[in-house]
Amino acid sequence: MCGIIGYVGSEPVVPLLFAGLKRLEYRGYDSSGIAILEREKMTLFRRVGKVEQLEEEVLPHQLTARIGIGHTRWATHGVPTEENAHPHLDCRGKIAVIHNGIIENFLDLKERLTARGHRFRSQTDTEVLAHLIEEHDDGDLLAAVAAAAREAKGAFALAVLSEDDPERIIVARRGSPLVLGKGKSGTFACSDVPAIAGEASQLFFLADDELAELTAQGFHAFNLEGEEVKRPLQEMTMNPLAIQKGGYKHFMLKEIHEQPRAVGETLYEKLEAGRSTINLSGLKKIDMNFDRVYLIACGTAYHAGLTAEYLWERVLPVPIQAVIASEFRLREMHITPRTLVVAVSQSGETLDTLMAVRHAKEKGATVIALINSSNSAIERESDGVVYTRAGIEIGVAATKTFSAQVAALALLGLFLAKRCGAISDETLKEELAGLTLLPGQITQLLAREEAIASLAERFYNATDFLFLARGPLYPIALEGALKLKEISYIHAEGYPAGEMKHGPIALIDEQMPVVILLSHQIAYDKVLGNMQEVKARKGIVIALTDRPDDPILPKLADHTIALPAATPICLPILYTIPMQLLAYHIAVLRGTDVDQPRNLAKTVTVE
Ligand code: AGP
Repeated sequence: MCGIIGYVGSEPVVPLLFAGLKRLEYRGYDSSGIAILEREKMTLFRRVGKVEQLEEEVLPHQLTARIGIGHTRWATHGVPTEENAHPHLDCRGKIAVIHNGIIENFLDLKERLTARGHRFRSQTDTEVLAHLIEEHDDGDLLAAVAAAAREAKGAFALAVLSEDDPERIIVARRGSPLVLGKGKSGTFACSDVPAIAGEASQLFFLADDELAELTAQGFHAFNLEGEEVKRPLQEMTMNPLAIQKGGYKHFMLKEIHEQPRAVGETLYEKLEAGRSTINLSGLKKIDMNFDRVYLIACGTAYHAGLTAEYLWERVLPVPIQAVIASEFRLREMHITPRTLVVAVSQSGETLDTLMAVRHAKEKGATVIALINSSNSAIERESDGVVYTRAGIEIGVAATKTFSAQVAALALLGLFLAKRCGAISDETLKEELAGLTLLPGQITQLLAREEAIASLAERFYNATDFLFLARGPLYPIALEGALKLKEISYIHAEGYPAGEMKHGPIALIDEQMPVVILLSHQIAYDKVLGNMQEVKARKGIVIALTDRPDDPILPKLADHTIALPAATPICLPILYTIPMQLLAYHIAVLRGTDVDQPRNLAKTVTVE
């Protein structure tokens, strides 16, 4: 949550800050702000709303500063107002601080600082940092930030600018991501690499409890004790074109259409020549002697984990359970050194998932991270890693990263089964042959977008939706409902179709669209029975089916979307695609902010 950026160099800072902030807006977008040293004077602009609105206000000032920091916010402490927007200043207005994270002991610090005469202007936790640094500032800003970082509890990535130290920016991190970049024109710090793609050529990922000073010439990193930290720099590999809409109206639509590539690259890089052997090089150190598996994740990633639970129990001889990460530590899970935990996360930074990983590690479990963004906290703290190769996802609603997660999990399940001797070479070969057809099948489905857009026109005014499915398609019903809720703000629920009669059936009337995921390979007759029950109560049935020519369908379904024939392991991904498109087109017709839906942030780094 929240995106931060800083730059010092030979170029005017303001355009660089805005370019970076727009690319970080997926992390939070309720308000934004920048602080720059314009003719060595601290100059602050803050505004509620999107970064673009702040930019419109700032650009006419024709500022020439070459050092500054910027922030885009997702509110935790204090509602989105100008006073609560970052940067926050110390009492003298000389020190400006931007922050991503939560200072857990801010009330204690605030009380202490107030007693010492500091005056607070906002309700945020961040403002204590500005006053704390002021309190420690005896002319050495780096030492003052280190002292403040030692006192602060909780998570932070912060950047500090001071009028008394006009040539450098000080940054520090614990728990929240922070990357430094060196480019031709100067030095950057930011929450995530895309913010500086095309600007910086070399990267340095700050670790927990490290600080750095940035000058136009480069940076030096230190630990909290003041010792210099040296690690090799990494090359910037991100292409700035990857963070453009490429002719699509929204990032979400572009990302939906990127799924054949995302799934293909995720699968093919893990298959050896001949595509009958799986090679997961990030798992070399993993002990395969496990007797239980937990999949932990949040939101869409949890739906991928739940899908894996269904897929894996077909091939693995041990108990498997997907658990929502924020619940994992609250339960008496059976975690021993023979437990394998798979943490699924697009960002690798989701705090609920990270805390669940730490909990599992403390109890001796082996942890595999299945993630899309490399260099993340979850990857660092895990014993092994499997990457999804979806590429950067900017739309807040996860689409291509979900299908890539399910594809990678399908492979991981087969890999584990092979290692445990639970699957024959022949079956493995058949499963892999099915999976490798997925990119083509997804392309076929994407070609049906127009038909799905027409359905959206018919239903965009609905107030509620039900999504029903059985077996491995049940998590996909949950995902269909989540996508619709997130971006269209329509109330939607996903249910196992067999559960409908135990409650949700009471909701059905002639206004209720019910999306039913129907496959002749999964309890076909039972799901047809559920469709009968919906029709008998005058509900509107939208059937996604891989048997579109079944003569019974016209009697039971008001609308039908045909899916290509595929092997069972491929079904969850294929059924996801039409629901993503349906949610997208409904949201567009309702005029919502598709890429940045209200109240959400792409990476949730609070518990
Ligand atoms: C889904 O559309 C959301 N963006 C959200 O549920 C997301 O999947 C969740 O916050 C987990 O994020 P992660 O994969 O980065 O851990």
